[in-house]
Amino acid sequence: MKSVAKNTSRDERDAKVFALYEQLLEIEQRLIPTGLHVFGRASSAGEKIDLLKMIASFDRPEAGVRSLPENLADEAVREFVSAGTDAAVRSLEQKGLSEAETRPVFVLLETVSTKLQTNNELDSLVRALRGEFIEPGPGADIIQNPDILPTGRNTHAINPYGVPSAAAFARSEAVANSLLERYKLENGRYPEAMALVLWGLDNIKTQGEGVAQALWLLGTRPVRDALNRTTTVEAIPLDHLGRPRIDVVMTVSGIFRDLFSPTVQLLDKAVRLVAQLDEPLESNYVRKHVLQQVEHDACDLDDAAVRVFSNAPGNYGTNVNFMVMDSQWEREETLGDLFVTRKCFAYGRDSKGRAIEGREARVAMDRALARVEATYQNIDTFEIGLTDVDHYFEYLGGVSKAVEKRAKARPAIYLSDTLSRDVKIRTLEETVRLETRAKTLNPKWYEGMLKHGFRGVAEIENHVSNTFGWSATADAVDDWIYSEVANTFLFDESMLERLRDLNPHSAHSLVQRLLEANGRGYWDVEDSVLEKLRDISRSLEDQLEGVA
Ligand code: BEZ
Ligand code: MG
Repeated sequence: MKSVAKNTSRDERDAKVFALYEQLLEIEQRLIPTGLHVFGRASSAGEKIDLLKMIASFDRPEAGVRSLPENLADEAVREFVSAGTDAAVRSLEQKGLSEAETRPVFVLLETVSTKLQTNNELDSLVRALRGEFIEPGPGADIIQNPDILPTGRNTHAINPYGVPSAAAFARSEAVANSLLERYKLENGRYPEAMALVLWGLDNIKTQGEGVAQALWLLGTRPVRDALNRTTTVEAIPLDHLGRPRIDVVMTVSGIFRDLFSPTVQLLDKAVRLVAQLDEPLESNYVRKHVLQQVEHDACDLDDAAVRVFSNAPGNYGTNVNFMVMDSQWEREETLGDLFVTRKCFAYGRDSKGRAIEGREARVAMDRALARVEATYQNIDTFEIGLTDVDHYFEYLGGVSKAVEKRAKARPAIYLSDTLSRDVKIRTLEETVRLETRAKTLNPKWYEGMLKHGFRGVAEIENHVSNTFGWSATADAVDDWIYSEVANTFLFDESMLERLRDLNPHSAHSLVQRLLEANGRGYWDVEDSVLEKLRDISRSLEDQLEGVA
């Protein structure tokens, strides 16, 4: 072994071990759903403890509730579940925490606990079928807002003129800053332009966190009118901002466009305001780009400042997910082009006050995406992540692939995790690894799914296909991920037996997806492994033919 400067290498080793330890903790502490929700069934004792612990880890200043310290939460919540509030308060008193501090948390947990016990889902369904009125509740993440309980109700939207709420705007400053710092750390400077994805339900859940992040990146703040409606924005002075204003290209979902029409106007207004500020171009990338475009394309300021895009009126979704799932594509760039075809409709209002309501603006979107250096989406829930549904890759993956062709460089791709104790920004690759370890390859997760039989195998296969979606749109999946999927679900004989008994169709799709990953160049693996996969595929086909 080489004897390089021993102390440094010891320090380096310690730093590496510590980083590894932190990564392990991150995976261990990740809250994951252990199985599908069964309609009408209340949560189990174990699920309840996990959930209460997470709820207790959140500061809620508006309710006068402080979070329990991380190191004591587990014990205290177990004590609460087995012996009640008083016992839990006493046990924390012995650890030096006053009753005044801890009782409010347990009062909150009592309410949540009772509401978790009562499950109105079947009852509400039957009443709804009878045509009775079911009072809706707020839409939110259960941890962020336990008032969503009891379940078995529809979600009501929020007043779009209240978006972003003061709390969401305040919280978002740190997220926007961390995002920019992360990019700067990796690239030595701020990104000049970013592409953001905004969804409707997410902004209902968070009272507009995604919207607030976009406003912060632009360096603007919402302003309320005499009726307390957020109808306009003002610029945050550059010396207060302490960094350049970032150009943001926003793709909003069809649901967002429908639910948040005033917010679409607000975002468009913010871009146009910033474009017209008399500021140095190196501190205002919106103005820089708009002026460049006016000069190069001989277009007017109104056209050069279009940044809010969605589907044509009445249309929803990108269809990128369907194209990937059905393997109906030859070249990756087709996926990005499809994204733009579906989403190149501009919304806002021009300088003469004329509404732009879904005007086709393909050239404007192409130009705007060509400058993008980073793409980003806010993740605000513990329940649904990158590989649970195909919507993340259709949107964030779709826009990233569109940028790659137009900017002639793959953008840096980031996600936030605004529900953890500290704001966390991760790259897409980091998030895919974390999701894979915490869910797809985690026995707690897949055994939870397999309890549901046929549907559980379909869920496992879905996760692998959604992971594949991140290869197709962003080349963000490491080889080991596919290798471990094959080892865990197909090369373990007893596991393969279980899958083929429960659901040979999904087992077959899973094998095919892995072969597709190799065929399209996303999984570099020995021929012997592929041979084994083809054998399994053939035997599943024989089985399916026998069944049919
Ligand atoms: C939305 O809430 O905007 C949304 C929901 C599902 C898929 C995509 C977007
Ligand atoms: Mg690769």
